This record gives sequence, structure tokens and C-alpha cells, in this order.
Amino acid sequence: MKVLVIGSGGREHAICWKLAQSPRLTKLYAAPGNAGMAEIAEVVDIPAKDQEALLKFVKREGIELVVVGPEAPLVNGIVDRFEKEGIKIFGPSRFGAQLEGSKVFSKMMMKKLEIPTADFEVFDSADKAMDYVAKKGVPIVIKVDGLAGGKGVVVAASMPKAMEAIHLHMVKKVFGKAGDKVIVEECLLGEEASIIAVTDGTTVHLLASSQDHKRLYEGDHGPNTGGMGAYSPAPMVTPEIEKEILQKVFMPIVSEFKSQGHPYKGFLYAGIMMTPKGFRVLEFNTRLGDPETQAILPRMKNDLLEVMLATVEEKLYTVKLEWKEEDCVCVVIAAEGYPETYETGKKISGISIAREDRDIQVFHAGTKRLNEDIVTAGGRVLNVVGSGRSFFEALSKTYNAVEKIFFDKMYYRKDIGHRAAKILK
Ligand code: AMP
Ligand code: GLY
Repeated sequence: MKVLVIGSGGREHAICWKLAQSPRLTKLYAAPGNAGMAEIAEVVDIPAKDQEALLKFVKREGIELVVVGPEAPLVNGIVDRFEKEGIKIFGPSRFGAQLEGSKVFSKMMMKKLEIPTADFEVFDSADKAMDYVAKKGVPIVIKVDGLAGGKGVVVAASMPKAMEAIHLHMVKKVFGKAGDKVIVEECLLGEEASIIAVTDGTTVHLLASSQDHKRLYEGDHGPNTGGMGAYSPAPMVTPEIEKEILQKVFMPIVSEFKSQGHPYKGFLYAGIMMTPKGFRVLEFNTRLGDPETQAILPRMKNDLLEVMLATVEEKLYTVKLEWKEEDCVCVVIAAEGYPETYETGKKISGISIAREDRDIQVFHAGTKRLNEDIVTAGGRVLNVVGSGRSFFEALSKTYNAVEKIFFDKMYYRKDIGHRAAKILK
């Protein structure tokens, strides 16, 4: 079977790596891909947002399954477009992708289905939002409605910060139309975890749990990023919590979409905060997490291609997900200056030495090939992933491998897994 993966990050490299192990795969393509994906797939220089060019390519090559990695094409309706042409494509429709594309849609859905989430109000005027924040006090959380590349949430510890966020989002429109509406919500405290499900619209299976590290600096300080590291499983997520989340979050959402005539197919990611009063859903994403995927997929025993086909063909009841009894840790190596400005074009060394350990994978994100070299081409550059029989073994293997890699002005967090380490010590 010929498969195309759309995207160019560490998540998509991990998806390609896992798909490449399927005996059913005959040829793998990636668009636009990166230097790591180029080692296992034919990389095609078509941007993820160019639906028509992708469609033409898929038809010309006779590609039988398309897998969408990032959120933007889903929100822009790529699944609806390809399905109309009779092409099998993995991911939710435009309707389903609103769960990520509009935080207002997502919060209203949670309210309707009584899914535990932070108390909130929606505003379409900056004045009213500011009045409300002044009344509620800080800390408080301001979120833009639409997609903002992971930068649309401000956890404001002071009143000036909260007012500035509303001004930037609603008056200055730094995220354009995404900030036409904002959500102002209660600030929650607790441990975060990522719970991702796969569903064909009826059957729901949970993937292994994971935890991301969103902040740039050690100790979870500094600005939010796309994610600086992850591990799976997340020891704070007990089987009881997983069961509760399946029953109180995923099942109601999936049956609601089905009853509205828009069955949800694909991955559905719930960002969870475990508070003293129980879990709360912070957000939904309508795709796999990055970098969570890099720590989850190496633990999956199933053939990912089989799982994806069963989803698209609405036969997920035939699949039982199985996980290796090992832990996996992912450390993201970024370019200094990320998530703001950073330099690119730096020669990377040591990847093949790091990979000499069979328990290490190096998934590329912002990389490209320049003659004989692999050079940096983005903010998050590499994901070093190690597996071990215990969390601590995986952790030390991963950092050993990270230390073998070098490029000018590389940056990584040295405390990935610090929360799990405290629980497991
Ligand atoms: P989101 O994109 O909604 O998950 O938000 C990004 C990050 O902001 C989350 O991972 C949390 O760390 C933080 N966050 C979001 N909502 C809240 C909230 N209500 N209270 C505290 N922190 C939050
Ligand atoms: N790692 C968080 C996300 O993928 O949204």
C-alpha cells in the first residue's frame, strides 16, 4: 500500500518511522518532510497547506492512504476535500477539527456534555473582557478562539499582563481573526498530562498516556513552546483516571459528533490538568501531540498502518491496542532563541553516533540536507528518544545520546521527566 504523510515535524517523522515497519506498506511519501523523513520516505516538496497540489500528486502516484499530521490542514478541510474525491484519508473532517480550530466551539461542547473544564466566559469585545478580568482578579487565563500556532494562551499572573493579553489579541489583533473572540477562564493548578484517543466515530481506544514539557526553561519556567520534551507513560495517570477520562470525555464527544451526523474519525487529544478537585480538560487537539507522539509510538506493539486503516474503514472494533512494557523519553533539541527568532543553516553532527544504541531513535523536526551535511532549518530541530525497561533507564539513555549531538547554538532542557522522577524515585 502506498501512503503519504503530510507534515514536516518530529511527530510526522515518528509516524513515518512507525508506518515504515508495516509489512503492508509498499511505498511511503512525505510532504513536505524533512531530512530524517527523507531516509525512509520519498520526500515531496509540496507545502502541507497546498491541498490542490497534494490532491493532484496523490492521484498521479496512486496513493491509497493519506495521513495528516498537523492541525492546520484539518481545520482547513483537507479531509472533506480528499474524501469527496474518494481518497482514503486519516483525520477528522472540518467539522470535527473545530474542536481544535475554535476554542469557543470546544468549550461550548464541553459545557453541553458536562465535561469537566475550567469555568469560562466568551467575549467579542475587549472592553467587556477587561471589565470581567478586573472583576475576577488574577491569576486568570486568556485564550484566543482560533489557531495561533500554540501561542494563543496567556496564563496571566498579574492584572497588567492580563490586560496586555486582551489588548494584543483583540485590539492589536496579533493573531488576526483568531482573536475576534477570546475566552477568559479560571486558572487551574495541578499536574498536566496528554491523553490521546483514536476513534473511527464509534469505537474509541486510548493510546498510552504521556506528559509534555511546554515551557522553554528548566523547572517549567519561561515562555510556552510547542513542547520541549515528553515521556510515556505518565505515572500520574492511573488506569482509574484513564477509565474516567474515556467515559466522561471521549465517549460523550464521540457519540455527540455521531448524533450530529458528523462522526469523528482520527486522533483526538485531550490536554488534562489533574486538580485537587479532579481532572479538568484544558483543550482538545484533533491530531497527535508533538513531541508526545515521539515518546508514544516507539511503545506501540500494533502495526500503525493497520490501526489507521481500521479507523478510516470504521472497523476499529477489530483492533486492540497493545503497548510495550517499557518507558520512553523524548528530549527536544532546539535552536537557541526558539520560540522567537533563531538562526538556521547550522551543520549538525553526531546523529549517527547517537543512534548506535539500538534503544535510541533520532526523529528530525527542522532539518534539511545541504550537500553531504544535515543542517538546521527550524526552531525545534531534533527529538532524541530513548526506550528503557524503566523510566530512569530510558532517561539516562536519552541524555547520553543527546550529548553526542552537536550544532552551534543548540539548546535543550536538562530536566525532562522531573515530575515523573519525583513520583517514581
Ligand atoms: P492550551 O493550548 O489550552 O492547552 O493551553 C496551553 C497551556 O496553557 C496548557 O498546557 C497549560 O499549561 C496552560 N493553561 C491552559 N488553560 C489553563 C488554565 N485554565 N489554567 C491554568 N493553565 C492553563
Ligand atoms: N505538545 C502539545 C501539542 O502537540 O499540542
